[in-house]
Amino acid sequence: MRESIIRIREEIKAYNILDIESQEAFRLKFLSKKGIISNLFDQFKTVSPDEKRELGRELNQLKLLATEKYNSIKDNFSSFDKTSKQDDLTRPGYDLNLGSRHPISIIRSEIISIFEKIGFSVAEGPEIEDDDHVFTKLNFAPEHPARDMQDTFYIFRQSVEDSNPNDILLRTHTSSVQIRVMQSQKPPIRAIFPGRVFRNEAISARAHCIFHQVEGLYINEKVSFADLKQSLLFFAREMFGKNTDIRLRPSYFPFTEPSAEMDVRCRICEGKGCNICKHTGWLEILGCGMVHPNVLESCDIDSKKYTGFAFGMGIERLAMLKYQINDLRLYFENDIRFLKQFRSVL
Ligand code: DAH
Repeated sequence: MRESIIRIREEIKAYNILDIESQEAFRLKFLSKKGIISNLFDQFKTVSPDEKRELGRELNQLKLLATEKYNSIKDNFSSFDKTSKQDDLTRPGYDLNLGSRHPISIIRSEIISIFEKIGFSVAEGPEIEDDDHVFTKLNFAPEHPARDMQDTFYIFRQSVEDSNPNDILLRTHTSSVQIRVMQSQKPPIRAIFPGRVFRNEAISARAHCIFHQVEGLYINEKVSFADLKQSLLFFAREMFGKNTDIRLRPSYFPFTEPSAEMDVRCRICEGKGCNICKHTGWLEILGCGMVHPNVLESCDIDSKKYTGFAFGMGIERLAMLKYQINDLRLYFENDIRFLKQFRSVL
């Protein structure tokens, strides 16, 4: 028996407890009711009385050694212990904090998928642009007020008094992408251009210096104003419901002729007049028109052969109408209470 005690003592000292499995194996081998130490205690009953005293002490020390080793290591793994009380397999799982999509990006995707249905592809252009793409090639007269420092953020300007096609600025509208696309592709062209735009405006509930637009362009032989109207009617009905009425009012933009602004019948009051539509029964949602021949020619497109229409809309404005958001600043402040309200919408 003495030999066994010495052998087991060495074994206990050398035993490497690395993980919860080897810890449990150690317990079963040395400390459990059927383990070797308990076995030795059984044998101890048969030991002769004169050996009992000595062997009894050694046996107790052996048990203490095993118990202490086990206890010293036990806490290292206890939080992973499959048998511990902390691990209640019936406990409900943690709530995964799912993010939500920003209303601007929801509306943007909606606009894109509507126009994709009628054959429009999607393209993008740079936010930092030159005067040539933002103004000159879009038929803006040299003295047009949009070219003023008051309205446009300039990064580089040749002269403070006069604008120059090489001036570098933040684009004030996505119409600049029309030029980029017409310079790099031959008609037929049918595409929309979503993107951020920048204007030198004081921030308020109704104005912001950064906002988002979606521009559209269709250039082909024999494109007519009727095509423009039909495409935009389709868009309005997909976006606001199939009974939505539209109205085109004459307007002016340098890059389109004729130009128009499009209204949709107010959904809140069904056209009767309310605060949202300022009692007119109509809500303005976009600008549009037939691409000006000067614009086509500035991109080397034969304006005798090709015609086209263009339109541009503000995403913030559409989202305001759709979700009845009354302050533009909410889009940019990232207030979680605002953003959370769009959680369920994909
Ligand atoms: N670029 C115009 C703006 O920012 C919107 C616009 C109007 C775009 C008419 C167009 C258009 O393409 O045809 O106010």
